Amino acid sequence: MKARESEYNSQIKLCLKAHLDAMTSADDVRETVKKYYGGRLESSCDLQTSAASCSLSCSPLPSSVTDALRLVHPEVTKRFFGCGLPFPAKLEGCRVVDLGSGSGRDCYAFSKLVGPSGHVTGVDMTEELVTASRQYIEYHQKKFDYKEPNVTFVQGYMEKLGEAGIQSDSMDVVLSNCVICLCPDERAVLQQAYNVLKEGGELYFSDMYASKVVPQHMKHDAVLWGEGMGGSLFWQDLIALAHSIGFSTPHLVSASHIVIYNNELKAKAGDISYASGTYRLFKLPKRPVVSKATVTYKGTVGDFPDQLDFDSSHCFKKDVAVEVNGEMAAILQSSRFFPDFEIEMSDKPESNSESTPQYCHLNPFLLADRLGSSVKQCSKTSKEKV
Ligand SMILES: C[S@@+](CC[C@H](N)C(=O)[O-])C[C@H]1O[C@@H](n2cnc3c(N)ncnc32)[C@H](O)[C@@H]1O
Repeated sequence: MKARESEYNSQIKLCLKAHLDAMTSADDVRETVKKYYGGRLESSCDLQTSAASCSLSCSPLPSSVTDALRLVHPEVTKRFFGCGLPFPAKLEGCRVVDLGSGSGRDCYAFSKLVGPSGHVTGVDMTEELVTASRQYIEYHQKKFDYKEPNVTFVQGYMEKLGEAGIQSDSMDVVLSNCVICLCPDERAVLQQAYNVLKEGGELYFSDMYASKVVPQHMKHDAVLWGEGMGGSLFWQDLIALAHSIGFSTPHLVSASHIVIYNNELKAKAGDISYASGTYRLFKLPKRPVVSKATVTYKGTVGDFPDQLDFDSSHCFKKDVAVEVNGEMAAILQSSRFFPDFEIEMSDKPESNSESTPQYCHLNPFLLADRLGSSVKQCSKTSKEKV
């Protein structure tokens, strides 16, 4: 059994090596990634880093999310390759799209969370995974006691959501779990997410981030790319990218350090470290009113009667008035959270010095340190994998 496994691994390595040498265009990169996830990986344990095994949140997951995850078919969960828990509050009735849905684990959990009046579309480019995920639609429909299935899986590219049948301005929430780091054109993905969101909608996603800009030579290594290490954004670059597209500043929700098990990959990464981070970005109205506001949470979001943990630096306590900056005021005013807050806009516009951004609170490495995501918590039992 072991001999067959290692023969299989060497064949895949040869195949990936051939792709590595030819990985010069976006199409080549996508073909390599399809082989990596469609053919090579049978379960999350086959990954060479702790990405799929460690996700720490600032606050415990609500029971609705843990229950939804528990109800997902084990065969689907076995092929989960995400690096976080992109489960925002208040999904009921929402239309959501999951970019790079893989085996469909998150889609089926979202299916439960959006309820029968909501809808989930999973988009993935790898045929094997789309076919595998579709096999469990009926199982989950029955499990959740829905008259009709509320999940659709589409084979397509997240850089071309229109071609995948996703209409502009049609989605309440765009979700993704460890996929954008596999795409050579992150700008195109974020732009597409922006286009398909309704005004006030949000992109809520977990991904891998690098502690510095990843050098070009690492981007040509097929295994580093397949593991997300070649394509990870330097975390600070996400902020400029989001602003240039028109999104709000990304809000950091949770983070974990990522441990690289494979010594060869560790050596190739040198002094670059990796973290998984979950961020939320909002599509604000074209001309948001930029003045501070005093906001009071009403305690009306399901699962959050006492306080709403919006991100790692905003926790809104029920009936406690707090002052927020102009951007946060615009987010609360234009998003699905509007009915859950009393919002009193200030007369005075925010001064430039007040809105000067300080971004260290958006650093996933600092948050991971703060949350105590240690190597011990994230390491696998089988330390060394080749
Ligand atoms: C690391 S896996 C994560 C899968 C899933 N989100 C999960 O959590 O299990 C990455 C997935 O993204 C898909 N993918 C990568 N690049 C893509 C692209 N450009 N368009 C659509 N899917 C893509 C791959 O086929 C693979 O299923």
